[in-house]
Amino acid sequence: MNTKVTIVKDEKQFDTTAAWRIIGCMLDKPSAVIGLSTGQTTKNMHHIVSEIYTASPFDVSDITLFGLDEITGVPRDYDGACYTMIKTQIADALGICDTNFIMPATLSDNYDVECRKFQSELERRGGIDLQILGLGTNGHLGFNQPGTPFESQTWVSRMDEALETRVRKETGILNAELGGLTLGIKNIMHARRIVLAAKGKSKAAIVKQMLCGPVTTDIPASILQLHPNCEFLLDEAAAAML
Ligand code: GLP
Repeated sequence: MNTKVTIVKDEKQFDTTAAWRIIGCMLDKPSAVIGLSTGQTTKNMHHIVSEIYTASPFDVSDITLFGLDEITGVPRDYDGACYTMIKTQIADALGICDTNFIMPATLSDNYDVECRKFQSELERRGGIDLQILGLGTNGHLGFNQPGTPFESQTWVSRMDEALETRVRKETGILNAELGGLTLGIKNIMHARRIVLAAKGKSKAAIVKQMLCGPVTTDIPASILQLHPNCEFLLDEAAAAML
C-alpha cells in the first residue's frame, strides 16, 4: 500500500496546503487535467488558488478543469450547481476558457448520453492527472453513496436526503426529479493522482473508517486505500480519531 497521510495543524494550513497541491500540478504539467470537488471543504482552497494566481499569474491556457460531480434537474446558474461554484470560485479567476472547463449538463433529456460525453471528453484529454476529492460523512465520494459497486462508471446517482432538501428549498423545485451525476468509483480510481481532503471534527469518525477499516462498498472512500498515488490531506480535527 502506498498510503500517504498528511496532517496539518488547522483549517488555514489545510486550505493553503490543498491550494498548493492544485497549483503545483498546474506548474508541473501545463496541460494537466484537474478534477475539482465542491462543498465546504474545497471552497477556501479554490479561493486561495485564485488569489495566488491573481498575484503571480502563470500559463494556464492549456489546463483543463472539471468537476467530479453535478446536480441534475436544476438550472446551471443555480448558486448550488457545481458548475457555478467551480466557475465563480476558481475557473473565472484563472480565465479558464469554456472549452477547457468540462462539466456535465445539469438539464438534459438523456443523462446517459451526458455521462458518456463527460467521461469520454476526459479520456480524450488523456485522463485525469489530479483529482481532488471531498469526503461525505457517510463515506461517499462524489455522489457515489454507500453500496455503490466499485466497478461503477459515470452515472446518475441520488443525492443524500439533506442535500436534496436544501437544493429543493433553494431552487423552489418541488416535484421534478433531481439527481447526482458523478464520476464512478472506477473512473476515480483511474486518476493518476488523488488528494482526498477532509477537515473538521465532523469528518473524524469517517476518516478513521476510511483509512483503518476494511475496504468495503459500505464506505466508498475506503477503496482509496488501494490507490497507488493517493494523499489523504487532513487537519488535526479530522485526524483526531486516528
Ligand atoms: C457533496 C459533493 C461531494 C463532496 C461532499 C463533501 O455531496 N457531491 O463531491 O465531496 O459533498 O462536502 P463538504 O465538503 O461540504 O463536506
